[in-house]
Amino acid sequence: MGWKLHLTAVLTALVCVVVYLPDPPYVTDVRKLSTDLQKWHERGKTIKVNGHNVFYIYEKCKNEKLKNPTTFAILHGYPSSSYEYHKVIDALLEIGDVFIHDHVGFGFSDKPAENFTYSMSEAADNALVVWRSVKISRAHVVAHDMGDTVLTEILARRYRGLLPNYFDNFFQSVTFTNGGMKYSLISFRLSQIILPHPTFGPFFSMVGNRLGFDKFFMKKQIASIWSPHANKIDREREIGSIAELNEFKGGFRIFHKNIYYLYDRAHFEFRWFAALAEINIPIRFIWGDSDAVAPISISKFFQSFVPGVEIILIPKGGHFWMLEQPDVWIKEIRKVLK
Ligand SMILES: *[C@@H]1O[C@H](CO)[C@@H](O)[C@H](O)[C@H]1NC(C)=O
Repeated sequence: MGWKLHLTAVLTALVCVVVYLPDPPYVTDVRKLSTDLQKWHERGKTIKVNGHNVFYIYEKCKNEKLKNPTTFAILHGYPSSSYEYHKVIDALLEIGDVFIHDHVGFGFSDKPAENFTYSMSEAADNALVVWRSVKISRAHVVAHDMGDTVLTEILARRYRGLLPNYFDNFFQSVTFTNGGMKYSLISFRLSQIILPHPTFGPFFSMVGNRLGFDKFFMKKQIASIWSPHANKIDREREIGSIAELNEFKGGFRIFHKNIYYLYDRAHFEFRWFAALAEINIPIRFIWGDSDAVAPISISKFFQSFVPGVEIILIPKGGHFWMLEQPDVWIKEIRKVLK
């Protein structure tokens, strides 16, 4: 037999074994997580939204001199969680109230394997419900990555007159940070090619989960979008936390599902861009200029048709520049108050 035949036989045998392996158990107990993640969890609460538990942190402004502090409502990205703001939340609390929730499928929120598509419609539904449930009446909304897409879906509903009256005066400003908002300009990662694939995605996700290489793969993928200028030790720690929180509550069971935002991005740009083209609230794009997945060409693309848009580039900023350069993030976000 030739080596190709041997290889095929070995691979086929491996696949047969993996298909019959059970899914490995996963951590559901917060006390088994790192102390940093436990502390983050202690700051928050859980609320039932459309049938799923959603984790959120809602803290009041710590600066007593401010009479009527504004609220920052934050929409986190993929594949992270509210924890991506752990370095900036305290400084942000000096200038306003802060609300951040974990989208279903991420962080401490539920990660259902059935009856949930992880579409941006569902993520937008949930964001609107949680904001309203905790009684935020007005906010500066700041979004990142997948959160950018949740926000454009919400803005599309606003543009089409589909939001409840509650949100009539809700949006004080919207800020987008690094995300693949223009599909054709995304510099796709390997994970973004394999996981959304209708056949290879579920297969890769199952094999990776059962043989335990999803976490390793995720870490490599995230490292590739970190700024090459950032501190490497800190990078490893932050990526470790992101991967740990994905593993929590069985996130790797749904590795091929919570990537669904890419399908929506491929299909709904016309809906979102129409809303951005006639937006009547202050809008900013603040973009790390050294992001391998969402290059600055994406932010510049919006300059051509979004009225009054402000584009700010962050030198040496990677995809997660709120983690890489927290002081710069705060300095830039403060400017929405001017
Ligand atoms: C999903 O929905 C179907 C149809 O409503 C139901 O029969 C099934 O029990 C649900 N599964 C879960 C895990 O909730």
